[in-house]
Amino acid sequence: MRAAAMHGCFVTGTDTEVGKTRVSAALLHWLGERGVRCAGYKPVAAGIETIDGEDVNEDVRALRDASSVVMTDAEVGPCQFEAACAPHIAAALEGRTIERAVLLQGARTLAARAEYLIVEGVGGFCVPLGADFDSADFAVDLQLPVVLVVGLRLGCINHALLSAEAICARGLRLAGWIANTVDTGMPHRDANLATLRDELGGRHQAPCLGVVPRMSSPDPAAVAACFDDAALRALFGLA
Ligand SMILES: Nc1ncnc2c1ncn2[C@@H]1O[C@H](COP(=O)(O)OP(=O)(O)OP(=O)(O)O)[C@@H](O)[C@H]1O
Ligand SMILES: [Mg+2]
Repeated sequence: MRAAAMHGCFVTGTDTEVGKTRVSAALLHWLGERGVRCAGYKPVAAGIETIDGEDVNEDVRALRDASSVVMTDAEVGPCQFEAACAPHIAAALEGRTIERAVLLQGARTLAARAEYLIVEGVGGFCVPLGADFDSADFAVDLQLPVVLVVGLRLGCINHALLSAEAICARGLRLAGWIANTVDTGMPHRDANLATLRDELGGRHQAPCLGVVPRMSSPDPAAVAACFDDAALRALFGLA
């Protein structure tokens, strides 16, 4: 029997550390504010730290805290590793492998409890997860629309267009993109944003869903306030 279609989105980025977690948590906050039952999912998470005496992965905890569905860390992040490095390397360091079926089952279990699932990818779009699959394959397994976080810094136009082509080549829909300010001193920021709007909007019909400045505390509510409500309503099919 085919599993029911999931609703939500797969959040990828032009690189690691470009704001995927901040944006994913803000999307969860935005949905929760509208009374939607939503769950965050971080299928593969690398890097454990001690927060308030507890060993946690920061991304997993941020998504869990922003979700309106009550979940455990293990449900949000079924595959967590100690070392903060490329996931297949972190797995090898522990003599473990990343099981594609486990990642998909975890998503399906949460999707049965939530109306919308916000899945944060790993690093950029194409990250090896095992000998025969990568993070893009997992995005294909989910069949969710993709949201691209573009980290605003020199070089991001190329990274955004390469990511958009890779998403499209896997037969997935780039449903929109969110600009997140990484380099506050980026030269010609507005011209870069205009080019991203033209290229991603024109070639890929992907609208800009928001532009996020650098903030002193980029909490979910503050980041969500930078989103384009109408564009997000269209993306999630909300009235
Ligand atoms: N708009 C912003 N203003 C201030 N700080 C930000 C902003 N966006 C992201 N950051 C900070 O930058 C760092 C990287 O952001 P984040 O963890 O969301 O990136 P990521 O793409 O999820 O990284 P990873 O690939 O490790 O999952 C974090 O410390 C985060 O708090
Ligand atoms: Mg993250």
